[in-house]
Amino acid sequence: MDVAVIGTGYVGLVTAACLAEVGHRVIGIDGDADKVARLSQGDPVIYEPGVEELLQRNLANGRLRFSVSIAEGVASSTILFLCVGTPPRLDGSADLSQVEAVSREIAHHLESYRLLVEKSTVPVRTATWIERTLRLYSRGQADFDVASNPEFTREGSAVEDFLHPDRIVLGVPNRRAAGLLHELYAGFDCPKLDTDVSTAEIIKHASNSFLALKISYINLIADLCEAANGDVATVAAGMGLDARIGRAFLHPGLGYGGSCFPKDVLAFIDIGEGLGVDMAILKGVDQVNRGRIGRLVDKLRQALWVLQDKTVAIWGLAFKPHTDDIRGAPALALAERLLKEGAVLRLHDPRAMPRARHVLLPSDRVAYCDSPEQAAIGAHAVVIATEWPLYREVDWAAVRENVATPILVDGRNLCDPSALEPLGFEYLGIGRRA
Ligand SMILES: NC(=O)c1ccc[n+]([C@@H]2O[C@H](COP(=O)([O-])OP(=O)(O)OC[C@H]3O[C@@H](n4cnc5c(N)ncnc54)[C@H](O)[C@@H]3O)[C@@H](O)[C@H]2O)c1
Repeated sequence: MDVAVIGTGYVGLVTAACLAEVGHRVIGIDGDADKVARLSQGDPVIYEPGVEELLQRNLANGRLRFSVSIAEGVASSTILFLCVGTPPRLDGSADLSQVEAVSREIAHHLESYRLLVEKSTVPVRTATWIERTLRLYSRGQADFDVASNPEFTREGSAVEDFLHPDRIVLGVPNRRAAGLLHELYAGFDCPKLDTDVSTAEIIKHASNSFLALKISYINLIADLCEAANGDVATVAAGMGLDARIGRAFLHPGLGYGGSCFPKDVLAFIDIGEGLGVDMAILKGVDQVNRGRIGRLVDKLRQALWVLQDKTVAIWGLAFKPHTDDIRGAPALALAERLLKEGAVLRLHDPRAMPRARHVLLPSDRVAYCDSPEQAAIGAHAVVIATEWPLYREVDWAAVRENVATPILVDGRNLCDPSALEPLGFEYLGIGRRA
């Protein structure tokens, strides 16, 4: 089938590359001409495991191309995926200006039937606004449908998730749209849930908010374990053995970050309240999450007393492992907080340092280091802020040798304290028994 993917960021690029991989002819469209030029040369722009190979293979076999022109996408494709950003506004609601701008432009070029599919995460009823926009700006001439096909891929394993999904949700207004989307996904062997468009829009926000809730819940339990000398890892194991609860997302730490959970929880609160629903549960989820950085700084203060002029190594800057995405990264919030406290920072991340350099204010109090061992040199404390597996494998003897004081604050409970304490490390985890 002929497909246009509008917005080729983290979601759009994976969508375009994977749909081409399974045999469709795909045009990826982005307003950023530099990005389009790089993608057209086979440079994925972002780090996402597996995407570079798919990009290069499908550019070479001619099934994938890129353009800045929405007109070109509308002319060549029956199905148009909307993958532009929906960032948060100051009040927490979703900023839908990119969605609106793209809808307006599509409307100008509509000549025959097209199916517009929301893949961006949007508030319920956005499809109704898109339909109205398409009607208004095409002067009522156009033949189209608007569907919702929310994206559930995880950055860091997005290609694998896209090609082998747990489920595909298809929010469709009629049989014509359903037929097209089922044809598109015919090769995907997973449950496909057909529903109406509003329900599909709610499924995405409800899913992300529920996962965020699990994270905040286990973080709350971790705080309780610290106060009562319990062990959160064992509590999580004990809870997770209950099939109704499950093990996933019961890992305490610095809290959730990224470009999705924080904004989606806030947007869902805004949507619910706008519809007259009390969203107190999700306000609590957000509040717990906002407190995580403060609790980690408190741990550092307990260990170091005064933070002014102390050197802190932060291992991991990306919001999660296996990505270079630093949007909403707890590690960067921590770095900014520690700089305000007067600390000196030595930072390491295997993928995210180039992006972090653009975001953190240039300062002679921040050093970017080539390895975790190098970042630890002269540190009064090492903080693990992102659970990249390589931080488990560091040369601990070298780290011990070179730190100023051997304090490890494991913000992701990545390491085994029983292996580190014999080396002389003071280990501070999250919700672990002292
Ligand atoms: N990042 C994820 O893993 C993930 C997962 C599920 C859902 N989502 C949702 O998908 C959407 C996109 O997220 P993302 O992380 O890919 O964002 P992103 O910022 O990486 O990508 C958005 C892209 O849209 C392009 N764009 C913006 N306005 C445009 C316009 N008018 N015309 C053409 N291109 C335009 C931008 O240049 C950018 O490349 C968001 O709604 C997000 O919540 C993201």
